[in-house]
Amino acid sequence: MPSSSTTFARVSRVASRMYGRLFSANPYPLYKFLRTRYPLLRTPIGFWISTRYDNCLEVLRDKRFLAFDLNALDAFPPDDGLKSMREALQHAIVFRNPPDHTRLRRLMTTFFSPAVVNGLEPRIQHIVDYLLDAVEARGSMDLIKDVAFPFPIDVLAEVMGADDADKPMFRDWMRTLGVPLDPVISANDPGVEVRQAIADVQRYFSDLAADRRKHPREDLISIMVAAEGRGDLQTEEELVFSAMFTLLAGHETTMNMIGNGMLALFRNPDALARLRSDPSLIESALDEFLRFDSPVQVTFRTASEDIELSGRTIPRGDHVVVFLGAANRDPLRFADPDQLDIARTENHHLSFAAGPHRCIGEVLAKVEGRIAFETILRRMPKLALADPNPKWRPAMSLRGLQSLPLTF
Ligand code: HEM
Repeated sequence: MPSSSTTFARVSRVASRMYGRLFSANPYPLYKFLRTRYPLLRTPIGFWISTRYDNCLEVLRDKRFLAFDLNALDAFPPDDGLKSMREALQHAIVFRNPPDHTRLRRLMTTFFSPAVVNGLEPRIQHIVDYLLDAVEARGSMDLIKDVAFPFPIDVLAEVMGADDADKPMFRDWMRTLGVPLDPVISANDPGVEVRQAIADVQRYFSDLAADRRKHPREDLISIMVAAEGRGDLQTEEELVFSAMFTLLAGHETTMNMIGNGMLALFRNPDALARLRSDPSLIESALDEFLRFDSPVQVTFRTASEDIELSGRTIPRGDHVVVFLGAANRDPLRFADPDQLDIARTENHHLSFAAGPHRCIGEVLAKVEGRIAFETILRRMPKLALADPNPKWRPAMSLRGLQSLPLTF
């Protein structure tokens, strides 16, 4: 007889596959149904699904909702790769609570401040240019494979202090490590091998930290090593996994902002023409791309005590699934939410979350987005969609395209 947790895991795999097939191309009708009919839906396994903007914001801001308790995933018997990923993630800032969270956040916020990020602009511009140089003669490209995938990981490799020669290795790690972050993809690929990649990343950052202890530079690993000296980072594991989580947090999210945003422009030719004729709209356009098709669709929180929300009581220990992508299309918060409006003002979307865990990399992501869109549109005036129906990755939490073939 299969145990109840095995049955539960099987059921959730089937549900995940169904979600991947039916909804990943367009989850918005499902979100609308939930927002209208079941805005705060309690599932039998103690996960509450929240889809309205005001509820999502309240959960994210209320400190009684703690970082998601990874032990809740014990109900899913993990395969080897997932188990290693879970072990690694428990050190990550996004799964920590005060006082550790406060300490780690102070350190990371300093590094990703506007002053530091603005200093990276010339390097970021250089990276976009060399990726476009490589495809220029071809007259066609896959925006995801050729630009949106390598771009943010090459930037992050430099931020960490890696040599250029190590960039291909960083790209390989991301191909492997992105997979188990999503419940749908990992349910479909239970055998995926991530243990080796995690061990490789761990060894790489340990070695880099050892080098920077002797020869400090201005990169993130040197800042982390200095923090270690002050007691702000408490163990070698904390240093290594903070670096690894930064790669995970800053890579696929930025890639999806670029891919989803470019597709939204092609599907709204007036917006594309407007942005071409008035590039100063790029800042509001980026926020609108993020609202319209959020790269991170879902995040989780765990109730530390019984908490009233919208007239219901969320019992201590229950979890809330915060659907950022659904909140961003809530008509009670945004006028004409299903319309892309690149000049939208007061665009307080939840794509970077809110409250204590609000994204630390927002400034970097936006500089990367601005430079990528400006450079691509300027260098490729005849850019056109080669496939009107590009495929989405069958994922639930990270929303992005598998490929986006373009001609220019
Ligand atoms: C468009 C790109 C990005 C999007 C949409 C995005 C989105 C998010 C979201 C939704 C969260 C909150 C997660 C939660 O509360 O559970 C988050 C947290 C975080 N992000 Fe980003 N992110 C992006 C880029 C970046 C970049 C470039 C970096 C750094 C290199 C970064 C670093 C982080 C970190 C360290 C956290 C954890 C903060 C904490 O727990 O206090 N992100 N991000």
